[in-house]
Amino acid sequence: MWLLEKEVHMPSNNQPGSPPVLVPLWTREEIAKSVATLARNIDRDYVDCTPVLVGALKGAFIFMADLVRELQTPVEIEFMRLSSYGTGTESSGDVQIEFGPSREAIEGRSVIVVEDIIDTGLTTTAALEHLNQYDPSSLRICTLLDRPERRLVELEADYAGFTFTDHFVVGYGLDLDQKYRQLPGIYGLETDA
Ligand code: PRP
Repeated sequence: MWLLEKEVHMPSNNQPGSPPVLVPLWTREEIAKSVATLARNIDRDYVDCTPVLVGALKGAFIFMADLVRELQTPVEIEFMRLSSYGTGTESSGDVQIEFGPSREAIEGRSVIVVEDIIDTGLTTTAALEHLNQYDPSSLRICTLLDRPERRLVELEADYAGFTFTDHFVVGYGLDLDQKYRQLPGIYGLETDA
């Protein structure tokens, strides 16, 4: 793991075609602390019910796994597969829902959409609209990362870990062209700073 961390600390004289420079933003320890805080807040708000957590794949797979293990409140788990970025760092704006929970899993339930990041807000909005068709009793959003300055739609997270402005970020589930999801920390692309 140490080698992996070290590999991405590239020198800053990045050449065209060479791997991007990744700047450490949040360590594994800082992320764990934030996830624990989010879990305490969800525990506080869901005392008398069993919420259904819907993880937005692929990016939220690590956050979802860590979050549910920090929660005290019992939960049920579902996943949705949403995609809009394709390759590169800009959203296409065209959000595809490849699969998601059934009506039976959502109807009448307290639902929390679990996102790794909310940027333009288009993906999460599509997820909310889709799930709303199934008449949940409540629908909230929990995101580890929030970049509100980039919003193209009005959307506010009910639970947010880190709020930031700069950088396209990778690691802890987030990718650039499907790479870097496995990094335990979160890194920003220096070229986007
Ligand atoms: C990423 C991320 C969020 C979404 C946020 O997903 O996981 O779901 O973008 O961006 P937005 O707020 O601008 O819509 P992506 O489409 O890259 O798919 P992935 O989760 O498979 O990486």
